[in-house]
Amino acid sequence: HNLKPYTSFGVDAYATQFVTVTTFAELQFALAIPARQRLILGGGSNLLFCDDFNGLVIRICLTGITVNESANDVVSLHVAAGENWHEFVQWSLTQGYAGLENLALIPGVVGAAPVQNIGAYGVELKDFCDYVDVLNIESLTVRRYTPAECKFDYRDSIFKGELKDKAVITAVGIKLPKPWVAKINYGPLANLGSDASALTIFKQVCLTRQQKLPDPNKLGNAGSFFKNPIINKAQFDVISEKNPTMPHYPAGDKVKLAAGWLIDQCNLKGYQQGGAQVHTEQALVIVNTGTATAHDIVMLAQHIQATVSARFAVELQHEVRFIGRNGETNLAEVCG
Ligand code: EPU
Repeated sequence: HNLKPYTSFGVDAYATQFVTVTTFAELQFALAIPARQRLILGGGSNLLFCDDFNGLVIRICLTGITVNESANDVVSLHVAAGENWHEFVQWSLTQGYAGLENLALIPGVVGAAPVQNIGAYGVELKDFCDYVDVLNIESLTVRRYTPAECKFDYRDSIFKGELKDKAVITAVGIKLPKPWVAKINYGPLANLGSDASALTIFKQVCLTRQQKLPDPNKLGNAGSFFKNPIINKAQFDVISEKNPTMPHYPAGDKVKLAAGWLIDQCNLKGYQQGGAQVHTEQALVIVNTGTATAHDIVMLAQHIQATVSARFAVELQHEVRFIGRNGETNLAEVCG
C-alpha cells in the first residue's frame, strides 16, 4: 500500500498492511490484526518514511467535537483525534471561542498535536490542553492523561518517550479560558496593536505562515525539519561574539537559537540534492520539488547538519520523525 497520499512530504513508501479507522470499535479491531509492528498515522505531516514499512499502518480518522460551556471562566472542548487541526481552530473561532488563533494553519490532526506539543507565535498546545485520552495498545483500555502527566516540553511529550509505540491518542481536551487574552508578543504579531481581535490575529498568523511556509498541497514538506537548538550560555557567548545580530530566545538557564537563521547563514536557501531543496523563503524547511525520494531528503538533511556543525559547532536535531523499515529511526542511523 503506497503511503504517499497520506504524508505531506509526498514521497513513495510502501507499507505491508494499511487500514483507516473511523470509529473507536474499528480502532480496537485494527489493533487486534496480527502484525510484525504497528505505526499509528495521523495527518502524516511530521513524518519521513525513509524506507518501506514492514508492518501495519493504522490511519486515525476518528471525528467529532463536543462543547461544554457550563463553567463561567472556561469553554471546554472534547475533540476526536482525527479532526484536522486547522479546521478545528477555524471552527472554534467561528463559534466565538477565542484562544487558538496563534496556532492557525499548523498541518496535521488534533491527535498529533500533543505528541510534539505543537507551537507557533508564542503559544504551544500545552497552554490550552486540558487532558489527552489515550488508548493503551496492550491493555486496550483508555486512560485520561493530565497535562502534567503528558510531560510537555519544547516539541516533546511523553508520547515521544515512555508511551512511544504503546498508546494511541483518541481525543484531546482543550480549555479556552474566559476572558480571552491576546498573545501578540511574537515578531510579526507585535505590530497588530493591543486591541487586535482573535480573528485579526488569526488572519495575521495565516498570512505570515503563507508567506514563509510552503503549502504541502503544492510543494511537499513537513514544516520545520530541524528543532531550534538549545545550547548553554558559554557556547552561546562564543557564537554570539562573532555573530552579534544572531536571533536567540531565553530557554530557562539556556539559550534557544533559530535553526533557520543558522542554515540561512550557511547560504543554503535553495540548495538542492536531487529533488529535495532547502526552501527559498524559510531555510528551516526542506521541500520536495516534485521528484524527491526519501534518500534525497536524507542526504540533504545530512548536508545541512554537517554544514551548520562545521560553521557554528551546533548540532541540529531533526524535528521530523524518521520511520524506517522496522519502525522509528533517525538521521545518524539512516546514514550510518
Ligand atoms: N530566519 C532567518 N532565515 C531563515 C529562517 C529564519 O534568518 O531562513 C530567522 C528569522 O528572521 C527569525 C528567526 O530566524 O529571526 C526565527 O524564524 P521564524 O520566526 O520564521 O521561526 P522559526 O524559529 O524558524 C519556529 C517553529 C515554527 C513556527 C515558528 C513561528 C520550530 C522548530 N519551528 O520556527 O514551527 O511556525 O517558530 O512561531 O520551533 C514547525 O514546527 O513545523 C513549525 C513550522
